[in-house]
Parts: sequence; C-alpha cells; structure tokens
Amino acid sequence: MSAVVVAGLGYVGLPLAMRAVVAGHHVTGYDTDAGRVKRLEAGESYVEDVPAGEVAAALESGRFRPSSSAGACAGFDVALITVPTPLRDGLPDLACLEAASRTLACYLRPGATVIVESTSYPGTTQEQVLRWLEDGSGLLAGPGFHVGYSPERIDPGNRVWTLATTPKIVSGIDEASLSTVEGFYRGIVERTVAVSSPREAELAKLIENTFRHVNIALMNELAMFGHDLGVDVWEAIDAASTKPFGYMPFRP
Ligand SMILES: NC(=O)c1ccc[n+]([C@@H]2O[C@H](COP(=O)([O-])OP(=O)(O)OC[C@H]3O[C@@H](n4cnc5c(N)ncnc54)[C@H](O)[C@@H]3O)[C@@H](O)[C@H]2O)c1
Repeated sequence: MSAVVVAGLGYVGLPLAMRAVVAGHHVTGYDTDAGRVKRLEAGESYVEDVPAGEVAAALESGRFRPSSSAGACAGFDVALITVPTPLRDGLPDLACLEAASRTLACYLRPGATVIVESTSYPGTTQEQVLRWLEDGSGLLAGPGFHVGYSPERIDPGNRVWTLATTPKIVSGIDEASLSTVEGFYRGIVERTVAVSSPREAELAKLIENTFRHVNIALMNELAMFGHDLGVDVWEAIDAASTKPFGYMPFRP
C-alpha cells in the first residue's frame, strides 16, 4: 500500500481521500483551509456525499491524517491534486493548481507519481503542472517521476454511480506514468479507461461538462419559450424522453 497525499479536500478530494483509505492506503489530506482541517480532525464532514461516520472511521484506522501544514506532504508515493480551477472573466484561474503543484514539488521523490484531477484546458498537465513540478523538485518528469491526469466525474447525491462504480479515465505523460496511474486507480474504482495522453483526458472532461451545460441551457430557453406559449415544458420533456434512441433528457 502507498503513502498518498490528496491536495484539496473539497467535493472531489474528500471522497477520494476516504476511498483511498478504504483501499488500504496511508492518506495525508492536505488543505490550506485550516478550518476545514479542524473539522475533519474532529470527525466532522462538510461534504454531502461523505457521512461524518466515514471521516471518523478513517481517523480511527490510523491511515488518514488531515493537515494544513505543507510539511505533512513529505514522503508521498502518489499525490492527487483536487484544488479549485475556476473561470475568471472567461479565463481559467490556475493559481490554486500552481500553488498545490509547487508545494508537492518540494516533497517530490524519484519514482513518485503526481496525478491531477482538477478540471482544466487540454495541455494544462503537460505544459504547466509538469513545469512547476520540475522547477521545484530539480527532477525530470518521465525518468525522475510520473505524471498523469484523471478527471473526476463525481455526481453529488447519486447512489448508483459513485466514485467506485463510475468508470475513470486515466492518462500519463508516458507509458511508465500511465502504468502507475492506472495501477493506482485499479485499487480505487471498478473500471479504468486509458487514453493516450493527459490532453485527451482533459478534453474528455471538457466535452462532458460542455455537453451538460449546453443541454441544460437549451432546456432553460425552452422552458421560457414554453411558458410564453402556455405549453407545459415538463410534460413535453417527459414525452420526448420516451424516445429510446438519439435523445437524453435534461431539465431546466
Ligand atoms: N464539485 C464537483 O462536482 C466537481 C466535479 C468534477 C470536477 N470538479 C473539479 O475538481 C476540482 C476541485 O473542485 P471541488 O468542487 O472539490 O472544489 P472545493 O472548493 O470543494 O474544494 C477545493 C479544496 O481545495 C483547497 N485548496 C485550495 N488551494 C489549495 C492548495 N494550494 N493546496 C491544498 N488545498 C487547496 C480548498 O481550501 C478547498 O478545501 C475543480 O477543478 C473542479 O472543477 C469538481
């Protein structure tokens, strides 16, 4: 079992950290928000999908250590980056991703693996994260350490498609990276789907997000249109949803 760091204990990072503990890893949860870390240390949860009992059980196992101190990241075999990557004025804000990468770089050892899960544009892992890791560690990605990207597909509140049962796209900057990334997730989820490089994995995540946004926006427009016409858009959506092919229901 590996020493794992999860950097960013939010909606994506906390369930992942819990799952890694259940899989038998020693997990350090690193978050810059000391308030969140305090709550976790007290066995509380602030994430809908993670019951407090799960946090308490993880602490009791002795294999989960939440911390807001960067030094707690030392000694990792696998580090997962799950920090926010918001859009600001239409541009991705990578400040948290850079800060987390630079922190992990300080503790990067030869042969260790860093996996990005945060959503970002194609090229982020290979052009930005890799450079921040190399700069801070003095090691060369590839021969020195492994890097990969694996987008999160969490659907808060969904009891059928959980972190464990949802297929996970995995990628690496080279064959060795892909192999360690896939090996790690095989112990975490039921099915992994390998793609040729982090760029394809990053774009796959953006395709999934865009598909959802565009279709919800379309239904919002149709709801207003239906309201003006005095048509029950909900009934119309339910009726359209009976089409067994070429249609997927979205609601306003
Ligand atoms: N929430 C979702 O449903 C969802 C689904 C798929 C992908 N994502 C993506 O996953 C990423 C994380 O999203 P989230 O919803 O978990 O965010 P979140 O805001 O819930 O949690 C992020 C956590 O990271 C911490 N953090 C910020 N900077 C840090 C740093 N430098 N080092 C360590 N911790 C730091 C914050 O304090 C916070 O606790 C984003 O890129 C998001 O787009 C989110």
